[in-house]
Amino acid sequence: MELKMESGKLLEKPEDINPELTRNFVDFIREKSESGPYRVEVKIGNKVIPVDVFPTVFPPSSDYSVSSKSVFETFGNLEGLEVADIGSGSGIGSIVASMAGVNHVDAADINQQAVDCSRHNIEINSLQDKVDVFYSDLFQNFPQKKYHLVIANLPIVNFDAGDHPINNALYDKGFEIHKRLFVEAKNFLAEDGQITFTHANLQSAKTANPDYDFQALEKLIDECDYEIAERVEKDDLDCKWINYKIKLRK
Ligand SMILES: C[S@@+](CC[C@H](N)C(=O)[O-])C[C@H]1O[C@@H](n2cnc3c(N)ncnc32)[C@H](O)[C@@H]1O
Repeated sequence: MELKMESGKLLEKPEDINPELTRNFVDFIREKSESGPYRVEVKIGNKVIPVDVFPTVFPPSSDYSVSSKSVFETFGNLEGLEVADIGSGSGIGSIVASMAGVNHVDAADINQQAVDCSRHNIEINSLQDKVDVFYSDLFQNFPQKKYHLVIANLPIVNFDAGDHPINNALYDKGFEIHKRLFVEAKNFLAEDGQITFTHANLQSAKTANPDYDFQALEKLIDECDYEIAERVEKDDLDCKWINYKIKLRK
């Protein structure tokens, strides 16, 4: 695949992709998803949040759950905001957002076990008055309202998927899910509303162009008429993780 940057510079997909990083990540999450339900405790400041992880649901806290943490640790103060949590998994994003002061969260997932798991965790953390949980493919079943923040810790592995129940939490071949998200979100974002999500260079970290994964995603962000409002980087699991906040370009 050949991508053209605005600068006119050609962005070549590296040929020396070493699948090891991706494989370790995928193998670990697959193995975890076959166990459960099991309880984890997510620590935020001096708070400890109990979360039960159902089978086939992405763990919110593990050596490989870097994206979940990267997303919620950059929330900041969400006082009074209307929030959507797309691909809520265990519900961790909705729970942390509620604790950061939101007015309300609508949370949804395409995996019914993740819907059940989110709802259960909202209940054990006594947040039913703050969060509604339902089944939805991206925004399909969302009420027609405007959100100040869309949390979207969706799949980030840009690879061919084998067959496994956890795959819908992992694979986004060719950024198809992110592309649909960016397009659909236009009808649900409030003025200056933002989408927050994390990406990693799992595929390109060990290649001649380590930033290829981010360049490809940022090209899509630009093509879908968004601009980057915030970019927070960190290194973990031998690769780079970037949490993005994006908003519609005016
Ligand atoms: C990487 S997991 C993250 C779960 C949780 N948000 C977290 O931060 O731990 C991605 C989640 O997105 C869900 N998902 C994938 N495609 C989706 C879609 N089209 N619509 C809604 N949810 C989707 C998966 O089922 C999975 O629960």
